[in-house]
Amino acid sequence: MPPGASDPEWGAVPAGSEASIAVHWPEEARLPPPVGLAATANVRDDGLRTRFRERGFPECFRECADLLTWMHPYAATFDDANPPFYRWFVGGSLNASANCLDRHLDLRGDRPAIWFVPEREAAAPIALTYRTLHARVNALAALLRESAGVRAGDRVTIHLPMTPELPITMLACARLGAVHSVVFGGFSGEACGRRIADSGSRVLITMDGYDRAGRRLDHRPNADTAIAVAAQAGRTVDHLLIWERDPGTYASAAPLRPGRDLLLNDVLPAFEGRAIAPVAMPSEAPLFLMYTSGTTGRPKGAQHGTGGYLAWAAATSRWVLDLRPEEVYWCLADIGWITGHSYIVYGPLSLGATTVLYEGVPAHPDPGRPWRIAERLGVRVFQTSPTAIRQLRQLGPDAPTASGHRFRVIATVGEPIEPATWRWYHDVVGKGEAAVVDTWWQTETGGILTSTLPAIDPMKPGSTGPPLPGIDPVILDDDGKEVPKGSGRAGHLVLRSPWPGLMQTVWGDPDRFVTTYFARFHRETENPTWRDWPYVAGDGAVLAEDGYLRILGRLDDVINVAGHRLGTKEIESACLSLPEVAEAAVVPVPDELRGKRPVVYVSLRRPSADPRATGERVTRAVETAIGRFARPKAVHIVPDMPKTRSGKIMRRVLAAISNGSDPGDVTTLSNPAVVEEIRRIVAAAGSEGS
Ligand code: PRX
Repeated sequence: MPPGASDPEWGAVPAGSEASIAVHWPEEARLPPPVGLAATANVRDDGLRTRFRERGFPECFRECADLLTWMHPYAATFDDANPPFYRWFVGGSLNASANCLDRHLDLRGDRPAIWFVPEREAAAPIALTYRTLHARVNALAALLRESAGVRAGDRVTIHLPMTPELPITMLACARLGAVHSVVFGGFSGEACGRRIADSGSRVLITMDGYDRAGRRLDHRPNADTAIAVAAQAGRTVDHLLIWERDPGTYASAAPLRPGRDLLLNDVLPAFEGRAIAPVAMPSEAPLFLMYTSGTTGRPKGAQHGTGGYLAWAAATSRWVLDLRPEEVYWCLADIGWITGHSYIVYGPLSLGATTVLYEGVPAHPDPGRPWRIAERLGVRVFQTSPTAIRQLRQLGPDAPTASGHRFRVIATVGEPIEPATWRWYHDVVGKGEAAVVDTWWQTETGGILTSTLPAIDPMKPGSTGPPLPGIDPVILDDDGKEVPKGSGRAGHLVLRSPWPGLMQTVWGDPDRFVTTYFARFHRETENPTWRDWPYVAGDGAVLAEDGYLRILGRLDDVINVAGHRLGTKEIESACLSLPEVAEAAVVPVPDELRGKRPVVYVSLRRPSADPRATGERVTRAVETAIGRFARPKAVHIVPDMPKTRSGKIMRRVLAAISNGSDPGDVTTLSNPAVVEEIRRIVAAAGSEGS
């Protein structure tokens, strides 16, 4: 789509990037926040912002740390002796599982910590009280320590679906000081295996199966693939621990390997009633790794520290989601992504709220399901992605009206939300009385960085809000010059100062941490401090006169599909794993439901006798290497790639063809004639409806 009158000027947005195909909308008028919230919200006035300003960086962030229970108080708020590797709340020690469980037992031990909602609607929701959750975490921690030898600092890979066993396993690791690395359940066994190898995990925890869209999936075989892939990369998994979706009935066809595999539900009874003292971890000890896609084919393990991360997850849950102890809150996301870590598990549980965990797909068996769940459980705060909102709207535009739920705050996360979808969310899901918060952040940032505060800031459909207290964004052009607010020009979204939730490093690859996030606008000085190392988010954005940000999308080789980040290089290398594929290039296209989707172009070593079958093999290769959620929207088999004279594939030309826009000057290509040929192939595929 060519830029229209209301579109930002392109500035630093590279052609062919996700941001360049962003569908724009006019700047919307602001709506006042709901009156009802003003009297009760956690943040009711500007006092929070004033306090942050007055205390200044970095001491302002003590207010976040104060939300936690420390085993040993910290001596310094922040240490930047070695920028951009920062330490937060230095000298302090704490345990994340104790913050999420033990400290709530006296006050609310018998209140639900988790409401588990199975996908099968006939199965009633199950409440796990704080006391029950505490007991289950302790039993598993004892088992992990005694049967699998898990110790503080060990990495444990977790490949589980959305059942209570997932947070139980995470918290058991945290209790021991072990670093969990949760791999989204929808990732393939291969993708899981690569993450096991990179993290150096000796222990893999999985489940036999789970329900998804009305089917029981056999998940266990993924573990066998993962272990084999990790072994090829030189990492042996010593222990495969398997939960049963329905305890007592191992439902997978895959056999167990004696000595390595353990059915957790069989052995756990021996550990029931055990109390494992939470290990006092230094504030800067890593709590978890979360792998995310970048510009190379290799996913990077974002390493999050214990004190800084937890303080930021708790503070942002309080400020933006307005969570309160004992209130029921539901984030319809997957714990396997950062949103679920921060806003299903660590944020809500550290605040003593009740968090809903839903196993399945949102619209199963019909689009009224989420609203029935919300009504039944009395959910007051709800959060999901624009993709889920679009799907629920398309399938059941009036379904929320039929339900008796009442939300106070409804949050959206993960992708830009267009005003029409925003309005349905506000008017129909929120019934015109809930505050919408459009929260922008990333795996790397640990928690929300920009959003309106629900009781005090006006809402602006299509824009995330102003920065949260302590966050200092700026838009820079390619030369590092500040793009003034209100100019309508897009640029790199950059954060000038660090905050406690910022990832600590890329696991095992500190150089990559520096080059990916800080090198671009770094300033050489004799005595470097944090001021010389602005954080580059990788997003293109526009800063309005009122300080609100509009996020356009990624400026790098990352495509955001339904709020899941996919690296184009990862998809390309999956295609190249097929012997018949000579070259592969992946570009983003807008998608009505999922925001964006990848389109794959491949050229073959020999012409294919059955192009359709070849296309299907390419799709399968992507699903095997990454997972079904990465499935391309289309696969085009082309005679050659458009290339520069030096042989570089011109992805921007392919992106223009896929998006029906002008590829610009192609005469300098080594093979300009191929552009027309590719255009014909794509047009023919479009008219076939593929
Ligand atoms: O492009 C931005 C987009 O999602 C990217 C981060 O993806 P991930 O690390 O998987 O984390 C997703 C959950 C935080 C960002 O670089 N993004 C995230 N939130 C928004 C968004 N784009 C627009 N508006 C948002 N609210």
